[in-house]
Amino acid sequence: MKILLLGKDGQVGWELQRALALLGEVIALDHDSQELHGDFSRPEALAATVQAVRPAIIVNAAAHTAVDKAESEPDFARALNATAPGVLAREAAALGATMVHYSTDYVFDGSGHAPRAEDSPTAPLSVYGRTKLEGEQLVQASGCRHLILRTSWVYAARGGNFAKTMLRLAGEREQLKVIDDQIGAPTGAELLADATAHGLRAMAINPALGGLYHLVTGGETSWHGYARYVIEWARARGHAIKVPADQVLPIPTSAYPTPAARPLNSRLDTAKFQRDFGLTLPDWQAGVQRMLREVLER
Ligand SMILES: NC(=O)c1ccc[n+]([C@@H]2O[C@H](COP(=O)([O-])OP(=O)(O)OC[C@H]3O[C@@H](n4cnc5c(N)ncnc54)[C@H](OP(=O)(O)O)[C@@H]3O)[C@@H](O)[C@H]2O)c1
Repeated sequence: MKILLLGKDGQVGWELQRALALLGEVIALDHDSQELHGDFSRPEALAATVQAVRPAIIVNAAAHTAVDKAESEPDFARALNATAPGVLAREAAALGATMVHYSTDYVFDGSGHAPRAEDSPTAPLSVYGRTKLEGEQLVQASGCRHLILRTSWVYAARGGNFAKTMLRLAGEREQLKVIDDQIGAPTGAELLADATAHGLRAMAINPALGGLYHLVTGGETSWHGYARYVIEWARARGHAIKVPADQVLPIPTSAYPTPAARPLNSRLDTAKFQRDFGLTLPDWQAGVQRMLREVLER
């Protein structure tokens, strides 16, 4: 079975290269791949790629993920987050292929405190959120069999991430200020990739499965709680931390203006995913600890 993976070197794409290999032959592309085109700014070249490969499964891990930059290049963000996934979905429908697509908590406005279910009303606050929502809608409208996974606060051991930045700053500064009124669940790219492979396997066995799901780790925290967790974890293991524990200070989002507005409440209800796929989503600390050990204890 052929699996076409787009965005192979992103956080999730990298882990998917590993996780999907158990399911079949993975043809993995990035935007600068040479023989087959994987550039999302060239939708017709993407369509030609799908027609040439004729995959049974298309997994789209590519996206315009620079949330603030998207505000100043909305057309480009839309091309990558909506138009290109729509073309992939159209081609998947024509082939009878299954498509996996990732989306985001940023499709919601973040009001209130309750976790959002899949059918909660959407109201994105940013270009990124709007274009990701449009991408979801185009995949759904294409008629292809699909699995759309909305996730949040994605990190990976490979490349830069929030925890690594906090650890670097904690080693250099005597005070840190971190936002404490955005609440969500840090979710590892490893977990997303493994859950995707399980999900595809389950869909192969049970044709009734598929659709839109929320997929994040269990529990919740703020960016401030997340920063404190990684800093104290590293301090307890003897890593060089300069900032005193009481100098990691909470600040509101309003004190740290950014071009794109972010939802305050990023809680996603994952009951549907856990029930339909028979999987258990671990608390966020387990994956973060594992990533920290990979990063700090090599
Ligand atoms: N990161 C998060 O916190 C987060 C939260 C919620 C949902 N998500 C969703 O999860 C999915 C995976 O995100 P991620 O964190 O793995 O993102 P990422 O690390 O930023 O990876 C994005 C991938 O897209 C590729 N890409 C960029 N421009 C492209 C183009 N013109 N044509 C083809 N590929 C292009 C990138 O390639 P280059 O690196 O070579 O440019 C990279 O491989 C996305 O759908 C994202 O919206 C992410």
